Amino acid sequence: MFGFIESQVLFVCNELKIFDYLIDNEKSSLEEISDDLKLPKSSLERLLISAQCMQLLKKDGIQYEVIHELVPYLSRKSRFYCGDKFSHYFKTSYGLFNHLLSAVNENKPQWNKIVSDKLLTCDINSIYTDFIYSDKQSTEDFLSTMWASGYTDSIDLCTKFSFAGYKRLVDLGGATGSFSIAAMQNNPQLSAVIMDYPSVRPYANEKLIEYGLQSRGLFLAGDIFSDALPAGDIYVIGYLLSDLPEAMSVSLIKKIYHILPKNGLIVILEKLFADDKSGPYLTAMLNLTMLLEMQGQHRSTAEYIDWLQTAGFQEIRVIYSAGEKHMLAGIKNE
Ligand SMILES: C[S@@+](CC[C@H](N)C(=O)[O-])C[C@H]1O[C@@H](n2cnc3c(N)ncnc32)[C@H](O)[C@@H]1O
Repeated sequence: MFGFIESQVLFVCNELKIFDYLIDNEKSSLEEISDDLKLPKSSLERLLISAQCMQLLKKDGIQYEVIHELVPYLSRKSRFYCGDKFSHYFKTSYGLFNHLLSAVNENKPQWNKIVSDKLLTCDINSIYTDFIYSDKQSTEDFLSTMWASGYTDSIDLCTKFSFAGYKRLVDLGGATGSFSIAAMQNNPQLSAVIMDYPSVRPYANEKLIEYGLQSRGLFLAGDIFSDALPAGDIYVIGYLLSDLPEAMSVSLIKKIYHILPKNGLIVILEKLFADDKSGPYLTAMLNLTMLLEMQGQHRSTAEYIDWLQTAGFQEIRVIYSAGEKHMLAGIKNE
């Protein structure tokens, strides 16, 4: 019943940097945390008691500390830090989930309930351009969640699957390029074009520079449905089919088949449902999130294989990462 409170306790402790403070200081009293982080003692104590009951924190006498096993995931200094994934769920999805009841009754996204000043058609373009990318903060929250949910798994996938022999990867709806960057890091011969809406450009360019890949990676602003797609021998569609209705997904796969050269490769990155759709948990939770936010849904491995085979792709391989994002690859043989 109180899962909705637990999410906020986790998000707010992260936002207020309480975990970082306690990890840096090993342990601290309520007074010390309150003084150093400039938070009112009474409200802070209520938050800390809840975090303690959730087993995020523990108390030794009057001193709070972060549960030892969680330190790698809650410290901003750790490479396993998971807090960057929270931003979009904290700032946006949480508010949308107030309207789960309507979403189930109406079977449609609920943006109009939280942005009443905008006339939203809730088609996939307007969800991105009118809402997610409507201001700087929301753009940054979304792209930060995308990067944090994608890069580690992409590195893992690119060590399990080689793009040897391929020259140019086109990352459709590639956001800040978590997959393109991982692929270029593992395949020195490869260049990449990341195609996404214009608002994404500065953030994608920033990542390319951060990873020293600006000479091999290019951002192209455009709409993947209405603009011409750049040429390439690999087309990646990462976390995008789960945004889209079935007809748009199938037509995008077919469009890619037609423009790929012989031996060209399609790569789909997605969370995958078990074939009986009994889980896993994360796919189920995000499948519901897609109902409230997007026009698509999560699908099983068998469903994606069926779409790929119907479009003509062969030699389909499924590569599982150690995390949440997996990969299907298919070849255009003719
Ligand atoms: C759920 S995100 C996935 C981002 C990235 N591919 C990944 O794997 O993390 C979907 C991305 O597709 C982009 N997108 C959606 N529709 C698009 C369109 N019609 N044209 C260009 N980009 C689009 C969005 O801006 C967003 O960056």
